[in-house]
Amino acid sequence: MTQTYENELRARFGQDVELDVEPGGELPDEPWLHQILTRRTQRRYADRAVPESLVRLLLAAAFSASSKSDFQQASCIWLKDRGRRDRLAALFPDMPWIGAAPVFLVFLGDSRRLERLGALCGHPQDNGALEGFFNAAIDAALVMQSCVLAAETLGLGSCPISALRNRIVEVGEIIGLPDKVFPVAGLCLGYPAQPGFISMRLPLEATVHVDRYDDSGLAAAVDGYDRRRDARHSIADRQRAPERFGTAAFYGWSEDKARQAATAEGAGFATWLKAHGFTFDEPG
Ligand SMILES: Cc1cc2nc3c(=O)[nH]c(=O)nc-3n(C[C@H](O)[C@H](O)[C@H](O)COP(=O)(O)O)c2cc1C
Repeated sequence: MTQTYENELRARFGQDVELDVEPGGELPDEPWLHQILTRRTQRRYADRAVPESLVRLLLAAAFSASSKSDFQQASCIWLKDRGRRDRLAALFPDMPWIGAAPVFLVFLGDSRRLERLGALCGHPQDNGALEGFFNAAIDAALVMQSCVLAAETLGLGSCPISALRNRIVEVGEIIGLPDKVFPVAGLCLGYPAQPGFISMRLPLEATVHVDRYDDSGLAAAVDGYDRRRDARHSIADRQRAPERFGTAAFYGWSEDKARQAATAEGAGFATWLKAHGFTFDEPG
């Protein structure tokens, strides 16, 4: 049954992926895995309402995600008020899907609730060290991705929005964030208006290490990946900031991401977090 996922793996990685099935062994043919292997972000939504009961079901599935120490440090704001959503969307004119999506959620790392539990139980503690921040961020990310997968399972599409953190002062005010509660990402949700496309991933040789970390093959792996991605969907005519970086003879994913990362994102986020209760110190 090695062939079972062949098409999906080629779509995801742009090449054949050898699964090394043991002789006589076989892999389970699981429809949900076919779906995950071909999952995709959707930014354009059909003019079709998403019933509130469905959103609640998705949120229940989302909050079924695993949680560090069972601390349950994720929260979500379901932004229903049109005026508030419009104010938020106006901050990001280059991402019109924030205002247009039928549903908009904001997934939050919530380091505050554990502190409140401590106070309620008479064991006060400060949860603003790096550990508290990190655990809450991970919980929120797991909840969000569970929501994404649950939505896709029911035929909906979604788009996470971490750009919220680029305007954290305004966003914090619009959605009323108290100290020690921070957005990990927003999430647009709706029925997709178009099929969308599968975004190719780096080969497992670059992302999966056996027994010890070894990235000695990175340059070759990335070059092959760049070429496969370019053959499927070239971005050569969309070179970022040529006035700063020049025009590349071959413009692939790695050149694009290196240029993107050279311009810092999230400026002000660390300052905002520190002003809202986080020290990022060792716990103590
Ligand atoms: C944490 C996170 C934040 C993201 N933030 C944004 C965003 O602000 N705007 C946006 O249009 N897409 C955003 N995305 C979507 C990514 O661009 C998308 O996942 C990536 O290009 C890979 O595409 P795929 O999900 O279709 O495989 C985000 C995704 C994640 C996981």
